[in-house]
Amino acid sequence: NDVSLLRLCSLPCPLFYWCYQSQFRCDHTCTGKCQDKPLTFRCSGGAQSPVNIVTRSVQRDEHLIPFKLTGYEKKLHGHLINNGHTIQMDLPSSLKIERGNLTVPYKALQFHLHWGKNGGPGSEHTIDGEQFPMEMHVVHIKEEYDCLSQAAKDGTGVAVLGFFFQVLLSEYLKFDPLIDALKNITYPTNRTTLRGVSLDMFLPSRDNLTKYFRYDGSLTTPNCSEGILPFYHNVTCLLSLLQLASFSQLRFSDGNHMVNTYRPVQPLNGRQVYYSRGHAVLISTVLLFMSTLLSSALSLHTQPL
Ligand SMILES: *[C@@H]1O[C@H](CO)[C@@H](O)[C@H](O)[C@H]1NC(C)=O
Ligand SMILES: [Zn+2]
Repeated sequence: NDVSLLRLCSLPCPLFYWCYQSQFRCDHTCTGKCQDKPLTFRCSGGAQSPVNIVTRSVQRDEHLIPFKLTGYEKKLHGHLINNGHTIQMDLPSSLKIERGNLTVPYKALQFHLHWGKNGGPGSEHTIDGEQFPMEMHVVHIKEEYDCLSQAAKDGTGVAVLGFFFQVLLSEYLKFDPLIDALKNITYPTNRTTLRGVSLDMFLPSRDNLTKYFRYDGSLTTPNCSEGILPFYHNVTCLLSLLQLASFSQLRFSDGNHMVNTYRPVQPLNGRQVYYSRGHAVLISTVLLFMSTLLSSALSLHTQPL
């Protein structure tokens, strides 16, 4: 009854290794005295992420007021790493989100990305079945906690802001520092210093942070803890196809191209997806716009890597 389709494999114990469906080699077996140690990753609960958001079924929630973002405009200076599953950057805890029906401020922990192959479909969440080329997760935890595993034990300890990416027909120059940095972190455990990128740069406009979806979900990687509060924005960040494709040059630990780093959508199991005030207009206009861009993007990247 594993709905996760993330295959869990054990590498040299007690470390564990898991992989995305796209990684066909996941046949490591545990040896030695750790063999009997059970894997404790629960990736098959009833409130798992990601999900497909059906816009016809979302419900408006008056409590979903605009977020207050603190420090998102700050130029970051820190390590960008290839962690074997994605690229990730730790964020200073001076970055915070408040409001948006969160009862207390949450401090930022890290951001990471999920993507497809050469700019093809790669987001984790889908909207009316549409998969976007990339999705960014900005992970926040309650200020009282030090790390994700601690916060994940609290039913409301983690809040994730998710952003979809869309293909832009020209280069989005603001992202060059990030795209350039990818060359230095081709292999897992590689790290590089990233300067001059702020989280704000990813977002087309602050105004759009008033318009978002919300539902109760989970982490999308082991251990898939539930009780996470993802807030999915319906706004999209923009990158050119070339820029998106450069993520496919990164490598997994098995040496293969790091592509399709997303978990498939999981059953809603009766969960309600809510949307914030003033969302309705955006849904129709933005989605139409997105479908057009997606189909042109898909026809462009039919060449293999
Ligand atoms: C990246 O990792 C690979 C494999 O571990 C290693 O051979 C290489 O030297 C690393 N590169 C840098 C820039 O650290
Ligand atoms: Zn994620």
